[in-house]
Amino acid sequence: MPDNSSLPSRKADHIRINLDKDVRSGLTNGLENYSFVHRALPEIDLATVDKTVKIFGKTLQAPIIISSMTGGTPEAGVINQNLATAAQAAGVAMGVGSQRAGIEHTELAYTFQVRKFAPKILLFANLGAVQLNYTYTVDQCRRAVDMIEADALILHLNSLQEALQPGGDTHFAGLLNKIEKVCHNLGLPVIAKEVGWGISAEDARQLAGVGVAAIDVAGAGGTSWSQVEMYRMEDESLARVAAAFRDWGIPTAESILAVRKAAPGVAVFASGGLRDGIDIAKCIALGASAGGLAGPLLKAAARSAEDVLAAVKEISRELQVCMFAAGARSIEDLQRTQLISRLDR
Ligand SMILES: Cc1cc2nc3c(=O)[nH]c(=O)nc-3n(C[C@H](O)[C@H](O)[C@H](O)COP(=O)(O)O)c2cc1C
Repeated sequence: MPDNSSLPSRKADHIRINLDKDVRSGLTNGLENYSFVHRALPEIDLATVDKTVKIFGKTLQAPIIISSMTGGTPEAGVINQNLATAAQAAGVAMGVGSQRAGIEHTELAYTFQVRKFAPKILLFANLGAVQLNYTYTVDQCRRAVDMIEADALILHLNSLQEALQPGGDTHFAGLLNKIEKVCHNLGLPVIAKEVGWGISAEDARQLAGVGVAAIDVAGAGGTSWSQVEMYRMEDESLARVAAAFRDWGIPTAESILAVRKAAPGVAVFASGGLRDGIDIAKCIALGASAGGLAGPLLKAAARSAEDVLAAVKEISRELQVCMFAAGARSIEDLQRTQLISRLDR
């Protein structure tokens, strides 16, 4: 059964369902298995804790990414504007959602074009990697980057989501070679990213082998796209198939460790169920360079740029206090900080 919904109406469904329904994975992000050693005597002045990090040549005021979400409808354009305004004010990175709608309907490109609201930020373009098996080439990748004056391109890997959508783009065979061509010809860093089920060691090894600059694990434990698709399904049987995958995926903590080990030369970005600055700090101590949030910031962005900024500032403050209490002066210190694992006991 083909999915007759047009791309913009599907995007509108996704926003509405993410705002109105409980779309959480049945799994946790796995970070509850790790804790910092509390330092009663950190020998640091809280005010001097340095959260800045340099990624792809740009300095972020904190290692926070507003994860790729949306674009393609007027409402999504406002959400992107709010996210970008806050990202610029906080000095953090941001990704826009899949730009296929902007490429195939150029009149919708404006809904992704956030540079005027965020001239300085580290900004990620976004396309589904599988589109490389459906006529897209490095040319469309370049157009996505140029459309928003991005610093890097995210190719998202959403095999399970496509499999659950009626008429989804499920031709994932032979994709790795095409990702390699993009990595070699785009002239900007390429980031491979899941959408909420995590990246395995084997996938990380293969992606590193073809030249991706970073991997965003987007692990399980937060927004579950099988749950989102379940709410979209009119057919009850297809809804049950989607519901069966509520507990699917590699939890974020596990995926970070697997990717870090399998692809030591590649930067790791963490996302998938991160909800505060302590979660981000734990991801960094496990081997990530930065942490991203999507779902919670969508809710804030549906209200205002001020609400997004307040949320990002709160997360940033939690990160700073966490670093202080764990005795880490800088992000490099945090990366060297040993966590206590409940799994070893
Ligand atoms: C409304 C919405 C739309 C999304 N669209 C995209 C997308 O177009 N491309 C992408 O790479 N990830 C997309 N994601 C996935 C997020 O970037 C992120 O990986 C995932 O939601 C897990 O993070 P979270 O638990 O903080 O929401 C989307 C997430 C949400 C909530």
